[in-house]
Amino acid sequence: MADLMEELKLELEEKGCRFEYTNKMEFDCIVKIDGKRIYQAIRNIIGNAVKYGPEDDLSIRAEVYQQGEYVCIGIKDNGPGIPEDKLPYIFDRFYRIDTERTKDLMSTGLGLSIARELVEAHGGRITVSSVENEGSCFTVSLPVSKRLRDGVYQ
Ligand SMILES: Nc1ncnc2c1ncn2[C@@H]1O[C@H](COP(=O)(O)OP(=O)(O)O)[C@@H](O)[C@H]1O
Ligand SMILES: [Mg+2]
Repeated sequence: MADLMEELKLELEEKGCRFEYTNKMEFDCIVKIDGKRIYQAIRNIIGNAVKYGPEDDLSIRAEVYQQGEYVCIGIKDNGPGIPEDKLPYIFDRFYRIDTERTKDLMSTGLGLSIARELVEAHGGRITVSSVENEGSCFTVSLPVSKRLRDGVYQ
């Protein structure tokens, strides 16, 4: 995670976006993932923050923390947010809120549905909370496989 976050930080700062990563894990955990796929899910979420966020004042905060039997990766942006009545649909295939505003070819409405499939294939979950005109927070939760206790993985 630290490597991925370092990579993202360099990329985003090059685009003039603020990026902050905080590791809030209390102890080390082993999470079984196909790194490429989970990175893709995270990249899809971050790509949206960049695409839909403010051009000159974008700020993204990522944090990793533990919640029960899950490791959670939270990605919060200061973009336009998502109206509450649209939130249930944003993970649906081909669903896009504003088809007029972003007519670019890169927008298919598939990014979040792919992210959800990748995360769920790992036994995880992906959720969102959002406040209009304040921002959105996407959380990827992945089941812990083993945790480090008293210096031993259990
Ligand atoms: N961080 C975000 N801020 C505001 N709106 C978002 C954000 N992420 C996703 N959305 C909304 O959810 C829709 C679905 O996202 P996605 O599946 O990635 O499709 P796409 O990016 O191709 O439009 C987007 O069209 C956009 O309207
Ligand atoms: Mg997208």
